[in-house]
Amino acid sequence: MSKLTRIGLDKTQSEKLAKELNKLLSNYEIFYQSLRGLHWNIKGSQFFELHEKFEELYNDAQEKIDIIAERVLTLGFTPLHTFQDYIENANVEVGKNISEAKTAVTLITESLKTLVILEREILESAQALEDEGTITMLTDFITQQEKTIWMYSSWLGN
Ligand SMILES: [Fe+2]
Repeated sequence: MSKLTRIGLDKTQSEKLAKELNKLLSNYEIFYQSLRGLHWNIKGSQFFELHEKFEELYNDAQEKIDIIAERVLTLGFTPLHTFQDYIENANVEVGKNISEAKTAVTLITESLKTLVILEREILESAQALEDEGTITMLTDFITQQEKTIWMYSSWLGN
């Protein structure tokens, strides 16, 4: 039996990487739902600006969710797809009943930080496996999110 997957990567290491990607997927799903909540519940004089910005963010998260899930499939494994699994596998903070602008933006920057830290960890596994596809996906995510963190931190005056 071949020790390589159908795309020619080590099978055991691919399985470990897919598990880590499923953890990332779970965190994104929780983050996505937090963003929907912020988009809905935000109040105050900056409502129009933030309501729209949060929509941009959840649309971006939704795209990334699909990219991660399809990467898991490309590696030859099954993406997690139930809320129960997502809750069990995520450690990103859950936003609930947040309507104040600074609290909302702080939650976003902290959540993105959690995601970026996890992505850097998974990047190490992808590099050890020489899995160029996952490396590219993660480096793209990290670069984009680091910029988003900078912009939202600037908004906060940090
Ligand atoms: Fe909406």
